Amino acid sequence: MLRPYFALALAATLAACGTPRMVAPADEPAPAVPAETPAALMFVEDVHSYARPAEARVTRVALDLDADFDAKVLAGTATLTVDAEDGAERVVLDTRGLTIERVVDVAGAPLPFALGPRDPILGSPLTVDLPRGGDRVVVHYRTSPDAAAIQWLAPAQTGGGRLPFLFTQGQAILTRTWVPTQDSPGIRQTYEATVTVPSALTAVMSAEHLTPDGEPAGSGRTGYRFRLDNPVPPYLIALAIGELEFREIGPRSGVWAEPGLVGRAANEFADLEAMIGAAERLYGPYRWGRYDVLVLPPSFPFGGMENPRLTFATPTILAGDRSLVSLIAHELAHSWSGNLVTNAVWDDFWLNEGFTTYIENRIMEEVYGRDYALMLEALNRRGLADELASLPADDTRLQLDLDGRDPDDGMTLVAYDKGAAFLRTIELAVGREAFDAFLRGYFDRHAFQPMTTERFIAYLDAELIRGDDELRQRVRPEAWTHRAGLPDNVAAVESPAFEYAAAQAGAFASGAAPAALGTDGWTTHEWLHFLRALPQDIPTDRIRALDEEFRLTESGNSEILFAWLRVAIRNRYEPALPALERFLTTMGRRKFVLPLFQDLMATDWGRPLATRIYARARPGYHAITYGSVDPIVGAPEE
Ligand code: BES
Ligand code: ZN
Repeated sequence: MLRPYFALALAATLAACGTPRMVAPADEPAPAVPAETPAALMFVEDVHSYARPAEARVTRVALDLDADFDAKVLAGTATLTVDAEDGAERVVLDTRGLTIERVVDVAGAPLPFALGPRDPILGSPLTVDLPRGGDRVVVHYRTSPDAAAIQWLAPAQTGGGRLPFLFTQGQAILTRTWVPTQDSPGIRQTYEATVTVPSALTAVMSAEHLTPDGEPAGSGRTGYRFRLDNPVPPYLIALAIGELEFREIGPRSGVWAEPGLVGRAANEFADLEAMIGAAERLYGPYRWGRYDVLVLPPSFPFGGMENPRLTFATPTILAGDRSLVSLIAHELAHSWSGNLVTNAVWDDFWLNEGFTTYIENRIMEEVYGRDYALMLEALNRRGLADELASLPADDTRLQLDLDGRDPDDGMTLVAYDKGAAFLRTIELAVGREAFDAFLRGYFDRHAFQPMTTERFIAYLDAELIRGDDELRQRVRPEAWTHRAGLPDNVAAVESPAFEYAAAQAGAFASGAAPAALGTDGWTTHEWLHFLRALPQDIPTDRIRALDEEFRLTESGNSEILFAWLRVAIRNRYEPALPALERFLTTMGRRKFVLPLFQDLMATDWGRPLATRIYARARPGYHAITYGSVDPIVGAPEE
């Protein structure tokens, strides 16, 4: 693939930039970051953006958009403030599938622009001539009804069933399908927005809500205004519109959800303030003001998304017993790792997710205790082992090379759980106290800045390893970041509770009656470990006995139901199939949907069933989910 940043950069810019990426040979100390990094060097080449930030960069986005639910179009303007180098004549933006109507300066005078050829992953560069004597360009545009970042939900796809719903999902490179801006995680922007919606609906964004009740905008429409003055990578610009109600949880936290769900949600997330407090004690102040959670309709393709001030979450974590709230700890943790210190490019995704997974676990330990956190960590390690076994070796390094690929290809458990295991290994090598102080300093020092793997290792060397060769040998940073698989210095995780749960699975495998198993007082996590530890093949009468004793097919806990349904498919346990069909047709979380269809498609009897269920389920799924399932089950005939 073309490397637009270099292919198009001016010679002068090229000379100033050189190749900013510093790659250290494996197991050798990385060169230190120069104390004074020239501004141009701050921008790492991003192969997933057409932007040329060293010439002209967007610093603020002001949106004025109208949401048309009939046409499934957002239309209006994006006013971009541009910081241009002397002599720069143009700014290059990222777009994908946008209709650009015209581009003008703030006085309304037309600015010449050109939309380049469309790449299926990256979209089209939009090059705009900069106005003379001004720093703002106004893009008049509309989104396409199939914009990948936006899901337009029909009333039937919501809990209330009466009104439509919309939500956006920007990560990794989808913001360009609804906002024409420089869509690279290293190019931080502040933003403001006015969004006009039908008056029965409420708009919320990952920003300060300036008009909580909205303002009349004529003909049955209401306008909502927002602003975020902390600069963020554009993948964190997010919008949702629906029949939404707010419920306070603590002084700076609360939950938005459809009216029928908001009470349950507030109860589920009651520990939110305790989590924020724990994170602040560990890693310094929460810098975003409020922390609210938006519970989305069940088609939300992810578990959660760390949109600043307003985490987006799947309703499948509303288990009723707060047992799945580690997901909230995870999205909250991104307020430090990811939203404050951000992967400069998607090759460094582990800097977002690995740090966050580690911090999530530390928050869970603070709030729920060590044994509980150990169970969560052990579950992740088990998942990592499976992931490592199934991925090509090159995709198991922490630092990736995603040139020519969709960044989503790099979004595997390696970033999450190998990343977290790396940090745990450092923690064990230097001691918790020293590591906590180091991480706190890392966030303070790099707040609101992009980070690369090389810069992180250089900072680790400078602040923690400090020339101690023996310590460096115990940590071996490059073995983690640049080599495939799991280094043998990985910190071990032993959960006594899980050893017990696994022993119960063993007892069942050896013929023990389900009622005789020691399951009293088990948390969700022990059940999950137990279910995953069951033998591959279980005779029908035994699986039925298990179900009759523990009512697993009827579980209202999405994680337990998911783990059980996988056991059921593997063993063709027919009484669970109606529950399987219900699950697959009532939520669209990819993490659940994709493996279940994969499991069905792996069997002769399951294939026709998968095809039949998918035909019913697919219209309700988000493009991210059906984009992953289509290659497995087959897209419907047009
Ligand atoms: N930022 C991710 C979600 C994401 C990753 C969206 C990559 C698009 C591309 C979010 O923080 C996340 O990791 N969510 C997880 C839950 C978490 C507890 C592991 C998810 O959605 O499953
Ligand atoms: Zn995450």
